[in-house]
Parts: sequence; C-alpha cells; structure tokens
Amino acid sequence: MTDPVLATYNLNKSFGALKATDDVSIDVRPREIHAIIGPNGAGKSTLIGQICGGLASDSGRVTLAGQDLTGTGTAVRAKAGIGRTFQISQLAMDDTVLQNVMLGALNISSSPWRFFRPALADRDLRDKAEAALARVGIADLDHMQVAELSHGQRRLLETAVALTRAPKVFVMDEPMAGLGADGSKALTTLLDGLRQEAPILLVEHDMDAVFALADRISVLVYGKIIATGTTAQIRASQAVRDAYLGDEA
Ligand SMILES: Nc1ncnc2c1ncn2[C@@H]1O[C@H](COP(=O)(O)OP(=O)(O)OP(=O)(O)O)[C@@H](O)[C@H]1O
Ligand SMILES: [Mg+2]
Repeated sequence: MTDPVLATYNLNKSFGALKATDDVSIDVRPREIHAIIGPNGAGKSTLIGQICGGLASDSGRVTLAGQDLTGTGTAVRAKAGIGRTFQISQLAMDDTVLQNVMLGALNISSSPWRFFRPALADRDLRDKAEAALARVGIADLDHMQVAELSHGQRRLLETAVALTRAPKVFVMDEPMAGLGADGSKALTTLLDGLRQEAPILLVEHDMDAVFALADRISVLVYGKIIATGTTAQIRASQAVRDAYLGDEA
C-alpha cells in the first residue's frame, strides 16, 4: 500500500463529559478524495480542527507525509502543507479577485495585509495568482471586487488562494454548504480534478457530491468511525444505513 499523505492515529477530544472524537484513525492517500460523513454533532468539525491544529487533541497523533505534526499550531501545519480551505473571512471584500489571490499566496490575511500592497507589483506573484485563477476557472473575473462575486465564485476563489500555497493535502469542511445547484456542480467538477494536485479530506453533507467524488468514505457517528470503505461498500453497509444514510444510500 502507498504511504498516506495525511494520517491521524487514535485522535481524541472531549468537551467536558462529551467525547467529540473517540479514537479516530483515518488516512488520506495520494490522489484520493476521502470523504467524512455523519450526522450533525458527530465530531466532523472537531476532527478537522484537530487535524489543522486549531484544536489541541487530548491524545493521538497527526502526520503529514511522514512528518509528525502532533502538538503544533495552525501556522506550522499550514506551512507544512495542510491546505485548509473555505474560511470565508480570509477574503478581503473590497479588493479585487486577483489582489486576493496574490495576498493569499503571501499568506497574508486580515488587517496587516494592506502594508503588503507593494507586493502587488511583483510579476512572478501575479503570474502565479493568474495561473491559480485559470486553474479554478475564474480567470475572467480577476478584476472584479470580491464583494461582487456570487457565493459559488468565492468558493472557487478560496480554492485558488489555497492552490498558490501548493498544499500537500486539502482539508475541506462542508465546501458545498450554501451553494445552489450550479455552484455545487462547478465546485464538484473542480474538486474532481484537484485531487491530481493534492488529495482531499472532504467533510460534506451533500451526498450527491460525496457519491460523485469520494474514492473512500468514512462514517463518523458520536465521535467514532463506524465504517471506512469505497462508496459502494458504504452504500451497501447496513450499519451505515441504520446510523446515518437511511434511504439516501
Ligand atoms: N468548543 C466546544 N465546546 C463544547 N462543545 C463543543 C465544542 N465544539 C463542538 N462541541 C460539541 O462537540 C460535538 C461535535 O461537534 P462538531 O461541530 O465537531 O460536529 P459536526 O460533526 O461538525 O456537526 P455538523 O454536521 O453539524 O457540522 C457536538 O456535540 C458539539 O456540540
Ligand atoms: Mg461541522
């Protein structure tokens, strides 16, 4: 078996008496989309927080391409190559699409970024940003203000920002949330190709997107992984139907 890109080993996190994640071991392999599904409150976002470093684990380990990241914070993990996407707040609404990608590529977000405006004249940075916009299919929007974009276009823009940092793995928490049918379709097409750049850990409630994209699916219920398998295996699992999917399978 190929070595995993991202792996968690027995991750645990409690909030008081509640075990939000309970001995979670999953991995993401080269070029795959591994979806995590499960009911509301199952611990999916908690797990994402533990993987990205925003939430300290009670116990367990996280590795990226063999590097142990246990105990490190978000900045170290982002630099190591964990590409967390879809944090809307990172976009500067009054700036153009191109400026956002350029600033994002410099890893600048929130208030101090304006001091980096001179960087916007950097030719290499601009080329890199334009390539990322072309990759996600919104090169023609480069001079629009972010505030003018649709929700779906912003998701594509955030993906472009993430791409400029050349992550080793993408980690996405409900990227389809709030998108209409066209937006979901465009993002599904993009993610389908994106796994060639880096594999994706995808938390998603939209089962059409999950079934269309996932190479493997893990089902999280009350903090525990109850099943991991191919889409066909998960659809056929009685335990998964009982716990989560019901008629959707
Ligand atoms: N900071 C916190 N303090 C206390 N309890 C928390 C905290 N964060 C999450 N929880 C609880 O942990 C459990 C798991 O929450 P989590 O957000 O990880 O679920 P989820 O699977 O992402 O749900 P959803 O599908 O609704 O996004 C829930 O019962 C939630 O109320
Ligand atoms: Mg969540």
